[in-house]
Amino acid sequence: MRILLFTGKGGVGKTTVAASTAVACARSGLRTIILSTDPAHSLADAFDVQLHDEPTMIEVNLVAQQLDARIRFEEAWAEIRDFAVEMLGWVGADAVEAEELAVVPGLDEVFALADIKDHAESGNFDVVVVDCAPTAETLRLLSLPDVLSWYMGKLFERQRKLTKFARPFVSRLTNMPIAGTEVFEAIRRFYDRLDGVRDLLIDGEVTSARLVVNPQRMVVAEARRTFTYLSLFGYHVDAVVVNRMLPDAVSDPFFDEWRIDQKAQLAIIDEAFEPLPVLRVPLVQREVIGVEELHGFSSAIYGVNDPAQRLAEIDPLHVEARGDKFVLSVHLPFSGKHDVELAQSVDEVLIALGPYRRAIVLPDSLRNRQATTATFIDGRLEIVFVRVEPRTRAT
Ligand SMILES: Nc1ncnc2c1ncn2[C@@H]1O[C@H](COP(=O)(O)OP(=O)(O)OP(=O)(O)O)[C@@H](O)[C@H]1O
Ligand SMILES: [Mg+2]
Repeated sequence: MRILLFTGKGGVGKTTVAASTAVACARSGLRTIILSTDPAHSLADAFDVQLHDEPTMIEVNLVAQQLDARIRFEEAWAEIRDFAVEMLGWVGADAVEAEELAVVPGLDEVFALADIKDHAESGNFDVVVVDCAPTAETLRLLSLPDVLSWYMGKLFERQRKLTKFARPFVSRLTNMPIAGTEVFEAIRRFYDRLDGVRDLLIDGEVTSARLVVNPQRMVVAEARRTFTYLSLFGYHVDAVVVNRMLPDAVSDPFFDEWRIDQKAQLAIIDEAFEPLPVLRVPLVQREVIGVEELHGFSSAIYGVNDPAQRLAEIDPLHVEARGDKFVLSVHLPFSGKHDVELAQSVDEVLIALGPYRRAIVLPDSLRNRQATTATFIDGRLEIVFVRVEPRTRAT
């Protein structure tokens, strides 16, 4: 089972590359589903068919689904919405406003994750291709399992206990609505559905993320940041797809500067993303629409490579023993020590990088050890842990 995620800046060709990949996988005999988490309906446009929230068959071995978060929300979280509306009513928001406010931002992403997991585990598919929304939303989506498991572990359990004991007191003192057990149960049910999605997404044997770019400075700059953040969350990026390269056959001098610029950007991409394979895809003569065109386009992307296979193996995170020390090594390309902030608690290391944070739960080998130094070596953050002597601990 493979999950292939495609991400990149707006308009670079993510949907086209994802759809082509899905067609190529299906035609090589793999049972394939392509999901779009993008509320804009471009996937339907690329296949030139109507798509819905339910999977639609495109051809043998290929189905496509356009996720509709609103439908899922109604199905799964009605109890929570009712509570949220009641709560907002209590603080003074009027009914209509409360209904609107109760649509929690980021929920689309949560539903998308649950669907990715359901399809991956259904046994019905060999490949799940995900056409992601532009970068910012994708990063939110992909950082979510981490954030959720942290939240559920730390806050939810405590809050639930607190509510159980505090409810009789609070309700005697105030008329504030208190979340009933059905609200917690709804959250719990939903969380159970999501539980394990993270394990699937950070397993490099299962999931590969591919960065789609155009050979332009601003696009490449964003892709570099995306690579860093994806690595922070433990995702395995396995290729960069450079889309819309001007073909050599275009000889009009109008494009001379574009060509020089593209070549320069390509050289930068090759060097910066090394050792990732950099797949070059030409600008073609017209929009890529329909299964046949997408199939042709897939050969331009992958050549002799198998699109379903893992195209590179970079380990985002591992622990290794060095003498009597242990080193936690995190791949954070394009960053340096001034970009990160670190903190350690009993069982976690917190890494803050730009707008993102990841709490890495320490493996047993690192518990009861103290992080002493952190250095950057070849794009990897290496945090050295030493044993804490009982004497030191006592003081
Ligand atoms: N190499 C190419 N040559 C010619 N046209 C292309 C190429 N790649 C993509 N296109 C066309 O560019 C348009 C935008 O592509 P696409 O929808 O795949 O981008 P996207 O990154 O998914 O956009 P969005 O960020 O809006 O989701 C489409 O009409 C597509 O057919
Ligand atoms: Mg798109």
